[in-house]
Amino acid sequence: MTAETGLPDTLRDLPAYTPGTVELADLELLLAGAYAPLTGFLGSFDTAMVIAGGRLADGTPWPVPVTLAVPEELTGHERLVLQDPEGVPLAVLNVAEAWQDPTTRGWRLAGPLEPVRAPAHGPFHRLRRRPDELERPDGPLLAVATREPLHRKQLGQARQVAEQLGARVLALPLLGGGHDESLVRALLAVRRELPDGAQVVPVPLPPREVDGERDLLLRAHVAAAYGATHLLADETQGETAEKIAESAPIPVVVPEPWAYDADVEVWRPVARIEPDHVQAELTPEQLGELLDRGDPIPDWFTPPAVAAELAAARPPKHERGLTVFFTGLSGSGKSTVARGLADALIERGGRTVSLLDGDVVRRLLSAGLTFSRADRDLNIRRIGFVAAEITRHGGVAICAPIAPYAATRAEVRRMVSAVGDFVLVHVATPLEECERRDRKGLYAKARAGLIPEFTGISDPYEEPDPDVDGGADLVLDTTGMEPDEAVGRVLDLLVRGGWVRPEQPPK
Ligand code: ADX
Repeated sequence: MTAETGLPDTLRDLPAYTPGTVELADLELLLAGAYAPLTGFLGSFDTAMVIAGGRLADGTPWPVPVTLAVPEELTGHERLVLQDPEGVPLAVLNVAEAWQDPTTRGWRLAGPLEPVRAPAHGPFHRLRRRPDELERPDGPLLAVATREPLHRKQLGQARQVAEQLGARVLALPLLGGGHDESLVRALLAVRRELPDGAQVVPVPLPPREVDGERDLLLRAHVAAAYGATHLLADETQGETAEKIAESAPIPVVVPEPWAYDADVEVWRPVARIEPDHVQAELTPEQLGELLDRGDPIPDWFTPPAVAAELAAARPPKHERGLTVFFTGLSGSGKSTVARGLADALIERGGRTVSLLDGDVVRRLLSAGLTFSRADRDLNIRRIGFVAAEITRHGGVAICAPIAPYAATRAEVRRMVSAVGDFVLVHVATPLEECERRDRKGLYAKARAGLIPEFTGISDPYEEPDPDVDGGADLVLDTTGMEPDEAVGRVLDLLVRGGWVRPEQPPK
């Protein structure tokens, strides 16, 4: 094939498919040899064996199912082009088996892969090495495969274990858990605090729903593929490490517990500290509270460069991006309350505010869409996409569509929560009141059968549900309520939550 002239002729007629995020990461690791001994997506038998006993059908230990989900209409082909979200072909899958997941009934394709083109990487692409591109030092190599920055304690432990092993350190920031760039920067920032020659190589390994043992095993497999001779675990993982010792491809080393010695002001093994002087590290909750308030992260806990990355990834709440998503029937008062909230926030200053009202969005962003379920979902996804971008940039997005489907609201909550905060307000004014108001005369038309699929009349509205969309953070029935009062309640919620400072607007 030719390098930059597009798809080779032989591939042009094949169907193409863009896998999901986790599967694209799996594809990259499969092609890079980072999932050795796997070379392709698993079939039904291997998958069942892995789930049941952590081994492939031939007995080789492997901890997690690596499978490719596809829509049913793609199950009839022998070869399939797998492409990235921009449509660039990455590999050809030679289908050995099309199978159905026994629990979800979703379709999967299995089979060996032919690489077409290396995946394109964004930030830090220079650091993104395949295992075969890495310089292999002579002697032991200790991998630190982590989703979290290394603070003074973990740095001390890594130094201690590396020294005991006479090993160099390979830091593998595991991408895909959100805030990837912050994680990489936080590890680069502490490279000098690790033994000489420490390398940082980002690895796309999004979190998956597996237990601690399988998660640690997967990290060990990837680390081993990258040439590591040992994997550093967390000091709390002693039991897990013991359980997987037999099946792990390389030894998993659990460091001895460390703490801060408040007397001499250094981190060191707890065993060497006078009990009175032992100061524990900050718990994730304490750290989160400091970050939420915008308070400084103490230097004894983590280096300032790491603290800066923590704050970038989780800004103080009063500066953090926020989406306030109103949902409710037409005429429930969403638009009025949303506009009032936008005005109140603008008056207070310090925040940029974007209002994405249902009717307004349908005039441009969603022009041409109908009120079918599919089009309503697409409308809400577009609103969610824009809201997530606003939130990512630290703004406040106020959305006010009907958004009748809980599953779609859940999707928006997920998209936004990955980059900032999300608040769901159910404007729960009863249908009778909405219909009594009928400001636009639409309910009368709907009753007369002139508007089909009208929400509340001839089309469903699913109330917020904690099990589906996280539930409403606030329920507002605007019957007999002045708009100012309704806006006040939402503002109270935002003040209580720390997103808005309690001061009064200037008079
Ligand atoms: S959503 O279901 O996709 O969230 P959206 O908020 O954008 O709806 O649009 C709702 C507005 O469109 C209503 O306030 C109303 O003015 C108008 N509308 C027109 N047809 C319908 C319909 N069939 N169902 C609901 N609203 C409709």
